Amino acid sequence: MKIFVTGGAGYIGTHTCVELIQAGHEVIVADNLCNSKKEALDKVTEITGKGIGFYEIDVTDEKEVEKIFKENQIDGVIHFAGLKAVGESVAKPLMYYYNNLVSTMVLAEACIRHKVGRFVFSSSATVYGDNTVPFREDMNLLPTTNPYGETKAMSERILTDAASANEGFGVTLLRYFNPVGAHESGLIGENPNGIPNNLMPFVTQVAKGKREYLSVFGNDYDTVDGTGVRDYIHVVDLAKGHVKAIEKLKEGVNVYNLGTGKGTSVLELVQAFEEGNGIKVPYEICPRRPGDIASCYADASKALDELGWTAEKDIMDMVKDSWKFENGLTE
Ligand code: NAD
Ligand code: UD1
Repeated sequence: MKIFVTGGAGYIGTHTCVELIQAGHEVIVADNLCNSKKEALDKVTEITGKGIGFYEIDVTDEKEVEKIFKENQIDGVIHFAGLKAVGESVAKPLMYYYNNLVSTMVLAEACIRHKVGRFVFSSSATVYGDNTVPFREDMNLLPTTNPYGETKAMSERILTDAASANEGFGVTLLRYFNPVGAHESGLIGENPNGIPNNLMPFVTQVAKGKREYLSVFGNDYDTVDGTGVRDYIHVVDLAKGHVKAIEKLKEGVNVYNLGTGKGTSVLELVQAFEEGNGIKVPYEICPRRPGDIASCYADASKALDELGWTAEKDIMDMVKDSWKFENGLTE
């Protein structure tokens, strides 16, 4: 199939391009490079030996998107393009609502106009809010604590309504848990600008000596050791989930958790990192981070039953591949 990947130069997008190409699909990418570099796509070509059609455009721009649909016989869209920094979304809510919602609507409209029946959307486990773990796809969604999370819940709603109203337009909403790790080649991975918000990039930067110590946000949660529990998933497993999702996409609305089903606490992750890489990660216990929940992990059985997908890599693979990528960075 010919797959149009928006945000394909980003962290999850590049890994998904690799897996799509290796599964025999053709890929075209649109990205405005607001949080990525064109070189990341050159690395995808280096890994796969295949070129990628690239459009440097903003996918909120209806005219530019229309041009891409006219120039290409697209079979499916995977929509990664979006802004994702939770703190920034609180400071700049309109920027987040505009970018993340308008892009979704422009792309869905183009699919319906051009009779493209397969649309895969990057959602997040954040839409479950503070439900009881493990999170199941049929749970009622709860309010999130920030505009970023709301853009995910609203995009899900918009796409659900669009799929219900338009025969032949099928949508799969993928709720990611916590993507970490990097490609085994060490060529692509996550390299956030500025101070990382997320745990794994912060841990690798502390290990590298770029930061003095890790702040552990709270050790008084009702969890195994008091620190926050999350379902970390290797980005290559996540990418493979997208290949299955687009290949098996059924008409109507489909929702899947992409997680491992296993919870890991902050201190367990630090310990795994230290053991797997033979390097110390100094940390300090700090107050809770506002908006955090105690535990978040998936019931991952639906994706296995219906897509035949399950995560194959474990926490040791995640800490080792994250560290390998950090060490390959030149800056
Ligand atoms: P990323 O920032 O690395 O990738 C997103 C890409 O989209 C970037 O290359 C950026 O330049 C591009 N982009 C943003 N707005 C655009 C626009 N209007 N037009 C064109 N390109 C645009 O992020 P990621 O981690 O790869 O995340 C991909 C998607 O998955 C996002 O929608 C994100 O919200 C979602 N998601 C990510 C996580 C995570 O932890 N990484 C978790 C849940 C959901
Ligand atoms: C966060 C976002 C979520 C988003 C996801 C991926 C919030 C409230 N949630 O999820 O919406 O989809 O990132 O971008 O921001 N931790 C530390 N020290 C750190 C960093 C994190 O102790 O320096 C802890 C956190 O308290 C949490 C765990 O590590 O318990 C994971 O945090 P993080 O990687 O930021 O992911 P989430 O909070 O799950």
